[in-house]
Amino acid sequence: MEPYRIDIMTLFPDSMSRVLGESIIGRAEKKGAVEINCVQIRDFTENKQMQVDDYPYGGGWGLVMMAQPLKSCLDHIMSTAGGRRTRVIYMSPQGRPFNQEVAKRLKRDYDHLVLVCGHYEGVDERFIEECVDEEISLGDFVLTGGEIAAMAVADCVCRMVPGVLADEECYTGESHWDGLLEYPQYTRPEVWEGRAVPPELLTGDHEKVRLWRRKKQLERTLDKRPDMFEKLEFSSKEDKRLVGEIEYERLPERLKLRFEPRRAEEADIGALLEILEQAKEYLRSSGVDQWQEGYPNREAIMADIAAGRGWAFEHEGEIAGYECVSMEPEPCYLEIEGRWLTEGENYAVIHRAMAAGKFRHTSLSREMFSLAEDLAAGMGKQSVRVDTHRDNRAMNRLCGKLGYKFCGVVDLSSVDPAHDSLRNAYEKLI
Ligand SMILES: C[S@@+](CC[C@H](N)C(=O)[O-])C[C@H]1O[C@@H](n2cnc3c(N)ncnc32)[C@H](O)[C@@H]1O
Repeated sequence: MEPYRIDIMTLFPDSMSRVLGESIIGRAEKKGAVEINCVQIRDFTENKQMQVDDYPYGGGWGLVMMAQPLKSCLDHIMSTAGGRRTRVIYMSPQGRPFNQEVAKRLKRDYDHLVLVCGHYEGVDERFIEECVDEEISLGDFVLTGGEIAAMAVADCVCRMVPGVLADEECYTGESHWDGLLEYPQYTRPEVWEGRAVPPELLTGDHEKVRLWRRKKQLERTLDKRPDMFEKLEFSSKEDKRLVGEIEYERLPERLKLRFEPRRAEEADIGALLEILEQAKEYLRSSGVDQWQEGYPNREAIMADIAAGRGWAFEHEGEIAGYECVSMEPEPCYLEIEGRWLTEGENYAVIHRAMAAGKFRHTSLSREMFSLAEDLAAGMGKQSVRVDTHRDNRAMNRLCGKLGYKFCGVVDLSSVDPAHDSLRNAYEKLI
């Protein structure tokens, strides 16, 4: 197979050849996998002084590389290119930023790159217009010349050429190949400066090691490059599970508490009334004019229990919260200043959601909404509705966070008489 060929047009071919002739790329050249030629632009001048640059038209600082030597140099290279698929690239701070995807494309679509290194103020624009296929930048900063950028492109493209690295996995497993950063690497000794190698890597269990590394890749990308993490599409169940694990591990301890829902029973009434009192006190102290005039009460909760729509949430055997999930239409919702998302009465309603004081600010309220949505879906309902006082900031915020749409204002004076019986009404399609 013909080697992948890269010609670099430069004013400093010797120093570039020295760098590129070292290590992996140098060895690959010797093996014949790649061919890298650093070509002196100055050799193609047509003036006695071998001058490659001149003052810019219009005045100003610096010198501009002349089009003629560049074009003659390129013509010479092309005369030896045969039928190769060639791409002429000008290394420029104005080009498209270089990255692994650009490198993959250059490796896939071409077998010959000509990398043009500018210097001084750059090159005569007419050469770019006439001869250059694309401009590539090493990043949003300005270098004195294109040589460092050209070496970066040559190195990155060459390591994907078969025969350059020992195995394809050497580059497909690395940072940026599939939108992730690589996992952390360790070598001997097992403990250095009191820091031990992660135990998972010492198990000898390949599957454990693979899973640990995948999780670390996700974790590192999230921490070091949130911009990359945001673009990831988690198509595999395994990645989704690992991301779930990472998110869970990072939750504050109070949000890690787990709650078990079960149907509330008459025997729970004592504990539920205690929670109700705490909830009322919390609303009162927060200045929320809701549940302050006797509603909800024992009768309402007992009626929920009797109808099988009262749900208790337990944490380690202790009742932490309560809600009523009703499949019956709510008469107070018939009139709304605004508009519900759905027409008709095929919705479920969350009533009387309350948490014991010590379980406030945990995942309990989310779990309550989630249970209501599951139950509603199980009953073939279209949506879940809920209302709350406009001053109940926590509840209004939670509704928004959980995807409930604000639909308008309903009047609950027939149920919960108060100075202000108007309630914000929310609905979520399920
Ligand atoms: C000092 S720069 C010229 C910058 C040019 N006057 C401008 O402002 O766009 C000289 C040469 O360095 C190279 N160069 C500078 N920054 C680069 C970058 N970020 N990526 C690739 N090449 C760069 C280009 O070949 C350029 O012609």
